[in-house]
Amino acid sequence: MNNSIKLTDDVYWVGVNDKETDLFESLWPLPEGIAYNSYIIEDEKIALIDSVKINYNDTFLEKIKNVIGEKKVDYLIINHMEPDHSGSIKSLRQAYPEMEIIGNTKTMGFLEGFYNITEGTRVVKEGDQVDLGSRKLTFYLTPMVHWPETMMTFDEKDKILFAGDAFGGFSSLNGFLFDDEVNIEQYKDEIRRYYSNIIGKYGPVVHNTIKKLKEKIDKIEMIGSTHGLVWRENPMHIVEEYDKWAKQETEEGVVVVYGSMYGNTKAMAEAVARSLSENGIENIKLFDVSRKHSSFIINDIWKYNGLIIGSCTYNTGIFPPMEYLLQSLEIRNLKDRTLGIFGSYSWSGGALGRLKAFQKEVSCKPVEPVIESKFSPDSNTFEQCYELGKNAAEAVKNACEC
Ligand SMILES: Cc1cc2nc3c(=O)[nH]c(=O)nc-3n(C[C@H](O)[C@H](O)[C@H](O)COP(=O)(O)O)c2cc1C
Ligand SMILES: [Fe+2]
Ligand SMILES: [Fe+2]
Repeated sequence: MNNSIKLTDDVYWVGVNDKETDLFESLWPLPEGIAYNSYIIEDEKIALIDSVKINYNDTFLEKIKNVIGEKKVDYLIINHMEPDHSGSIKSLRQAYPEMEIIGNTKTMGFLEGFYNITEGTRVVKEGDQVDLGSRKLTFYLTPMVHWPETMMTFDEKDKILFAGDAFGGFSSLNGFLFDDEVNIEQYKDEIRRYYSNIIGKYGPVVHNTIKKLKEKIDKIEMIGSTHGLVWRENPMHIVEEYDKWAKQETEEGVVVVYGSMYGNTKAMAEAVARSLSENGIENIKLFDVSRKHSSFIINDIWKYNGLIIGSCTYNTGIFPPMEYLLQSLEIRNLKDRTLGIFGSYSWSGGALGRLKAFQKEVSCKPVEPVIESKFSPDSNTFEQCYELGKNAAEAVKNACEC
């Protein structure tokens, strides 16, 4: 999409689609791409809200020109300084030298640190407003959703909340922009994968931010995040989804994830999964931790209320890719899941010890038995795996009933 898209009479989307970046933040695969959303409000004064990644400067400036022609941008409002949204600031400054850059105190530190910009700026506080002529924009500080300087901007006339990274998702905008133009179910996984991996660590902050916004803003007609869909038909839908994920509310299902070099641990995981199925669990996800990127595994862990982890031992410790996953879950304060663990080894052991420490660290409900297998699993081990699957199935079913 090379053209701008109208949100209302005076508000336009001038974002870009990134289909070229393989790894967002050099970490997260982007099989469906990602969008960097920017919005322009053409009132008596012209305000641009957030910019895009540096690679797309030319397209971005062209899109702005397509909307405002030879007029000038009066204000650049920075809701978030992460370079996927601030990369074009220098080019914008060159194109519109008179443009005032608006952010909060913390924004200014980032602006100087990243881009050496200290002039032509305006510092705003919680609740401050900027008058564009027929409308005012109000600013709400929302630190740590997703960086310390993050804030949101509310257009009091059209009742649009420009939310920064909050309420965003992975996936580029493939011809569509609004929630009512797509089958949202198709994008839910990419939205939850974005939430659980990028924002998930700040769940309580997200929850409190949502509470604050509900108290301070009467009616939101539209939500425009810096990534993904613009929520127009039902803006509160994404707010409620984010709140649910922040509170770690889940649905019935079990993720089984294993680390295995030669198949012993894999065979145990498959036995557990078979038992889950025999015991009535319909949503079962079985992952090889080496082969599925952790962001997809974490996405499903954020969806379901059961988690069973098995790992082989590697050089007296846990299998390294599994260590990465465990740390990712510890950082995100995983809680309220039914959690089963099993390990395998051949001489010193080590994997199960780390899994036990993990089980202690996170606030989840352990499920028995904890299994440790030496060399290849024997029939007794497989029986225990069936037992673990059965008990986990019962636990997740009971958890969903209450
Ligand atoms: C490179 C390598 C390092 C290992 N290090 C240990 C170890 O330090 N202590 C131990 O008890 N077993 C160790 N093992 C043995 C495996 O943990 C054990 O055979 C396990 O059952 C393998 O499971 P898998 O077939 O799922 O890979 C190691 C195996 C390999 C291949
Ligand atoms: Fe961000
Ligand atoms: Fe972002």
